[in-house]
Amino acid sequence: METIEWGALGFDYTKTDVNARYSFTGGKWSDMEITADEYIRMHMSASCLHYGIELFEGLKAFRGVDGKVRLFRVEDNARRLQSSAKRLCLPVPTVEMVVEACKEVVRRNERFIPPYGTGASFYLRPVMFGTTVGLGVKPAKDALLIVYGSPVGAYFKTGIKPIMVAIDREQDRAAPRGTGDVKVGGNYAASLMSGEKAHDLGYSNVMYLDAAEHKYIEECGAANFFGIKDGKYITPKSPSVLPSITNMSLRQIARDMGLEVEERHIPVEELETFEECGACGTAAVISPIGKIFDMQTEKVYNYGTEVGKISMELYTRLQDIQYGRAEDKHGWCTIVL
Ligand SMILES: Cc1ncc(COP(=O)(O)O)c(C=O)c1O
Repeated sequence: METIEWGALGFDYTKTDVNARYSFTGGKWSDMEITADEYIRMHMSASCLHYGIELFEGLKAFRGVDGKVRLFRVEDNARRLQSSAKRLCLPVPTVEMVVEACKEVVRRNERFIPPYGTGASFYLRPVMFGTTVGLGVKPAKDALLIVYGSPVGAYFKTGIKPIMVAIDREQDRAAPRGTGDVKVGGNYAASLMSGEKAHDLGYSNVMYLDAAEHKYIEECGAANFFGIKDGKYITPKSPSVLPSITNMSLRQIARDMGLEVEERHIPVEELETFEECGACGTAAVISPIGKIFDMQTEKVYNYGTEVGKISMELYTRLQDIQYGRAEDKHGWCTIVL
């Protein structure tokens, strides 16, 4: 076991022993290569550098109460990676290639997998980009897919607590029929400016509205949005929202809890009617939302300083599956070690 202060870890890169790589050249994928090298040597005219032909994924491995290491829904991340690759006209790796690389990175970096009970986990970051040398705007013929990992700390160091978010209409994250529904770097670059504006005002996340009309709720920073009212779990349906694997799991858990699930447009004004609301994603599972501030209209929506009962139960049930404390009845976990 590595001498890492697990409790002090944030969401930062920590060097591990090895990463896994596949390269695509001459119309075919290489075998998986395992390397200790953290660097890549790339031509200055590589297509990813100029035209943003880049995508990534994020998922976690957890050391469970039984000492086993579980990858959470790795196949779903692999499928989402495939859809991002298709959207950018990149070669599409198989689900097995991505899953095997994730497993191998977990196995070979076992000493970096945080012990149970620390709240820390092992974050996996598959990243893929076009490496073809050229000047014109056209699809890349060559690509590199790298899977690496890093131990990361608990998102809420002192227990889950509500966050404050700000609505921004001055910059949008993703357009309808654009790339909002895939995990490509350009979406994140486009979100930085509004994110910084919100941070300056003391808000942790930006809530984006639909780019066409600014009428409906889309996403909450790098997380999906959900609201709870009248025994319902309600989450936006939109072609420019990233299909969150956490949200997909919470919808199933909500049904298991007897809640009704609605995926539909959520008008901003409906925020007044929610009993609880939250942001969900791999990083924190659920960040309950305590307050929403509309930066342009200055309207405030308040949900209190306590975590709502339903949000807490959703959070606990999902973490119980990830840490092997509850039966994995939907088959979401892959035991690696
Ligand atoms: C824009 C965006 N929405 C939602 C999510 C949550 O997705 P997931 O639950 O798969 O982590 C993420 C993070 O991955 C994200 O970047």
